Amino acid sequence: MAASSTPDLRVELGRLVLKNPVLVASGTFGYVREMAGFVQISRLGGVIPKTVTARPRAGNATPRTVETASGLLNAIGLDNDGIDHFIAHHLPYLRTVGTAVIANIAGEDEDQFVRMATRLGQESGIAAIELNVSCPNVSHGLDLGIDARSVGRLVSRVRAACPQPIIAKLTPNVTDIVAIAASAAEGGADAVSLVNTFRGLVVDWKRRRPVLANDLGGLSGPAIKPLALRMIWEVARALPTLPIMGIGGISNAGDAMEFLLAGATAIQVGTATFADPSAAERLLNELPECLSHLGAASVTEIVGTLRSNRG
Ligand SMILES: Cc1cc2nc3c(=O)[nH]c(=O)nc-3n(C[C@H](O)[C@H](O)[C@H](O)COP(=O)(O)O)c2cc1C
Repeated sequence: MAASSTPDLRVELGRLVLKNPVLVASGTFGYVREMAGFVQISRLGGVIPKTVTARPRAGNATPRTVETASGLLNAIGLDNDGIDHFIAHHLPYLRTVGTAVIANIAGEDEDQFVRMATRLGQESGIAAIELNVSCPNVSHGLDLGIDARSVGRLVSRVRAACPQPIIAKLTPNVTDIVAIAASAAEGGADAVSLVNTFRGLVVDWKRRRPVLANDLGGLSGPAIKPLALRMIWEVARALPTLPIMGIGGISNAGDAMEFLLAGATAIQVGTATFADPSAAERLLNELPECLSHLGAASVTEIVGTLRSNRG
């Protein structure tokens, strides 16, 4: 049936309700303040500031980023000023942005994650907490995220420690993404974010050296879109009740539609913001027309409706 009016963009991921499915990905939108001149922040479905850690971190040595064919390899190493600074300096501003703020945290171990979540649980203005168990550029970052049982236990401990909805941001650098997502769901995750970056290497052959000071980095951008879509489709089909935030090379509304059909309930725009700071808002502007093209009256009704050619 053709949609007669503007499609309903509202989406729900577990306990998290968003005005629309378009968010910006952690680490690609600063702490939001920096981007306010480019994007009408209150129009977005939500914002996810850069990962916050228990203590300030200087991050890795430079160079930390290098462009690749249709992608970006980065090894920032979670450069941030720590949770005290986040609460004192960024959160007061974030409370004013007029959309859902999802705090993204990374701990060096389970206890640190729980302590940080406990603190954020006492703060107002945080719509959900995204657990970064997937940063490929720091020691410990991956160890937790590649083990299904550890992810499940972490999610359940964090869920018990704070009242906000919990989103587990998973690493794609695993053999079986469904097993990890299933464990996050069993632990009580409201949703999973899929995916973080893929481990990669860029070589400067004349110098016989990796280009990044950290040697390895995480690949993002259009190059990873088919990989991310595959993982989202697999997880959505295996775990149809687990809401997914789709991430990976999304730069326009057509990309977003592909993720929604594959099974994501919402999407995050990451690297595309570096090329066009207003990419997320542009995508949001284009989305209703794409939905209408499919005759959809809402985002929700198209989520996970991709049909297999194999019957
Ligand atoms: C420069 C850079 C920094 C990033 N920093 C973070 C971070 O601090 N925390 C996090 O969870 N993800 C971080 N990411 C990963 C993105 O949030 C996203 O998951 C990934 O880049 C894939 O999406 P994209 O292809 O749209 O960029 C970073 C990505 C880039 C390119």
